[in-house]
Amino acid sequence: MISDESLAELRAIAARYPQPRSGLLPMLHLVQSVEGRITPEGIEACADVLGISAAEVSGVATFYTMYKRKPVGDYHVGVCTNTLCAVMGGDEIFARLKEHLDVGNDETTADGKVTLEHLECNAACDYAPVMMVNWEFVDNQTPESAVQLVDDLRSGAEVRSTRGPRICTWREASRVLAGFPDGRVDEGPSAGPASLVGLGIAAERGWSAPSVEEAQDAQDARDGEGGHAVAEEPEREAAATEDAGTKEAEAAVVEKESPTTGTAAEKGDAQ
Ligand code: FES
Repeated sequence: MISDESLAELRAIAARYPQPRSGLLPMLHLVQSVEGRITPEGIEACADVLGISAAEVSGVATFYTMYKRKPVGDYHVGVCTNTLCAVMGGDEIFARLKEHLDVGNDETTADGKVTLEHLECNAACDYAPVMMVNWEFVDNQTPESAVQLVDDLRSGAEVRSTRGPRICTWREASRVLAGFPDGRVDEGPSAGPASLVGLGIAAERGWSAPSVEEAQDAQDARDGEGGHAVAEEPEREAAATEDAGTKEAEAAVVEKESPTTGTAAEKGDAQ
């Protein structure tokens, strides 16, 4: 049952957008924050607020993997098993956690604390192998550190992302994704050292991004080159046609004068 308070928040989210329907994604996160997952009641509530069908809401909720139809534990623990993380140890971490937690993929521990899921690339390959807890990064993991992480989460100890922020519960994280800040946005850096290596090299060598004017000039120059190439194209086509015409004419002359073609036929006719 969606409470009146939650319904009011769903309406508030929809009202943030010129087209209320644009609010559906954060609205679904809000449903997860109060229900722990996307429930049929939550789908109906979103549909009612937006004036669309439950099937349309359901289509969105089942398309994106961040929306869960099954109950999620307090901590959604994701292990990246995409190519780079897999070869760097992600597969091993996932196998170890399944055994340690006694769950399969997308299953929750008996105490309701941890839901384990393998994830596709988190765009954090420079910190492979990477895990996420309620969408906070936990970088450069090993099977041992991963086991320690889930043990700490289950014991109720304060756990921090390797990038700084304290890890909150699944429902709390869902509320933030719905657009209700928890005040922790500035806990930790927005980018870690491995992601900033290129920036450091550029600073060392005095490289900088072009100004808007320089970028525009470069674009104009490219457009100019492209325009020139386009302008040349008809000339090239005309030359090719002319060349083909010349070859055809030459072939006709050769055929006419050849003793083995027209002449032979004429000879045959004569015989
Ligand atoms: S492959 Fe794991 S973050 Fe990219």
